[in-house]
Amino acid sequence: MSEENLPAVPPVPHKRRPRYGGKNPRRFEDKYKEHGGDAATIAKVIASGKTPVGTHRPILVAEILAALAPQPGEIAVDCTLGYGGHAQEILPKLLPGGKLLGLDQDPVELPKTEARLRSLGFDESVFIAHRSNFAGLPQALAAQDIAGADVILADLGVSSMQIDDPVRGFSVKHDGPLDMRMNPQRGQPASGLLQKIKPDVLASMLADFSDEPNAATLAPALAGKSFTTTRGLGDAIRAALPRLGKDDSDLTVRRVFQALRIAVNDEFSALDTLLRHLPAGLKPGGRVAILTFHSGEDRRVKKAFAEGRRNGFYSEISEEVIRPTAEERHSNPRSAPAKLRWARRAKL
Ligand SMILES: C[S@@+](CC[C@H](N)C(=O)[O-])C[C@H]1O[C@@H](n2cnc3c(N)ncnc32)[C@H](O)[C@@H]1O
Repeated sequence: MSEENLPAVPPVPHKRRPRYGGKNPRRFEDKYKEHGGDAATIAKVIASGKTPVGTHRPILVAEILAALAPQPGEIAVDCTLGYGGHAQEILPKLLPGGKLLGLDQDPVELPKTEARLRSLGFDESVFIAHRSNFAGLPQALAAQDIAGADVILADLGVSSMQIDDPVRGFSVKHDGPLDMRMNPQRGQPASGLLQKIKPDVLASMLADFSDEPNAATLAPALAGKSFTTTRGLGDAIRAALPRLGKDDSDLTVRRVFQALRIAVNDEFSALDTLLRHLPAGLKPGGRVAILTFHSGEDRRVKKAFAEGRRNGFYSEISEEVIRPTAEERHSNPRSAPAKLRWARRAKL
């Protein structure tokens, strides 16, 4: 067929870039430069104290490396792999001869992180990604024939990728389905929990999980109600406490979201189980570091480490909690509530 006889190819329609009001995109979907890994945009976002979407900035990295002291040939377990920010720093210190087992319960982000770490050159002989709740640490170790780890890290809570993606339903700022499950394939979303819960149970949950001072007023306004979106819940919380100023109102919304997230993901019972399994999961002389983000978590870690020290499982524990420097808090405001504690398993 000559060229003239070829059917005319329709022109490719010009795709418009997303439009957003103002100088910088605010909506998750509009941040196409960050999603696309544009280096200049990402550097600008980080310099402004923010976290580029689809990433997570690891917290207290130097302090964690100092506490864990990973050595060549050692075995490390990152119980909360997330974006792999800490894992990426620990891995080179284990080489040659060592390996890192990365656990995470999130089936959405784990494959992306595995691919990212592989692209940095960490193959299956040095890095294993395993989808698991860290409460199943003994089973995860057994599945890899690991009798004990030299180094264990847990960086509790949710990652920036999870918070920033409105579809995951953690976001106070951006509207999305009221879900909040780190593993969306298990359990019930926050919307289902709120619909079924009794006011007195919700009141205790808000008080116990986020020290909410207005729990008694909020619980009857929220329990048994049907909220399908994060914005709908946020509006109902504000409406239940109309006399609060904007800052207090914002803080209340955050506390209610935190309490719901802890409940939906059964976070305290997973942490208690991990703390119970830690001494047996560590080799003699092994080190563990745990990063917490609110008092309910820190109290548990502090108590478990102190008990372990008293009964001889741990030979040494951090005397004081380690916090981000003013500089880190300024450059990454999400680090502000972080508290680090560590323990060393006794040699005998
Ligand atoms: C704060 S992020 C970790 C970030 C990571 N340290 C980094 O530098 O990228 C917490 C991660 O732990 C996971 N996670 C939270 N609780 C978990 C649990 N009980 N079992 C397994 N993974 C959990 C979350 O899905 C999330 O990916």
